Amino acid sequence: MRVAIGSDHGGYELKEVIRKHLEAQGLKVNDFGTYSADSVDYPKYGFAVGSAIIEGKADLGIVICGTGQGISMAANKISGIRAAVCSETFSARMAREHNNANVLSLGARVIGAGLALDIVDTFLKTEFAGGRHALRVDLLSNIERGEKV
Ligand code: RB5
Repeated sequence: MRVAIGSDHGGYELKEVIRKHLEAQGLKVNDFGTYSADSVDYPKYGFAVGSAIIEGKADLGIVICGTGQGISMAANKISGIRAAVCSETFSARMAREHNNANVLSLGARVIGAGLALDIVDTFLKTEFAGGRHALRVDLLSNIERGEKV
């Protein structure tokens, strides 16, 4: 599995922890920055990770900012991206299983690194259930196309 990862300065330290954790598992991680704790603008990193998925360069993405909110909003502006902010493992599992989320968003000022790694592992190992959930995810695409649902 190829994972795209990105953060702003608020998520930089946690991104480094997650990147090393994934690389230790033998996963291919494409790191879109930021590469220091200097202040940057989170939309650029949400856009970079989301774009990598849409362009087929990664299977799933992880974005991190202080709260997980702003960077998820940026990623969700990209057609085809379904980014879910998760602060516990149940939501991470359900976001994959029911919503086919393709980006996990974390708040580095909300949760600790230990919980974040559990959430990441849960998100990456859970498969989309399909079935009735696929119909609902398709409706999300309809909304993106400007259709009424
Ligand atoms: C940066 O200070 C902070 O606003 C950002 O990391 C994030 O929490 C925004 O949603």
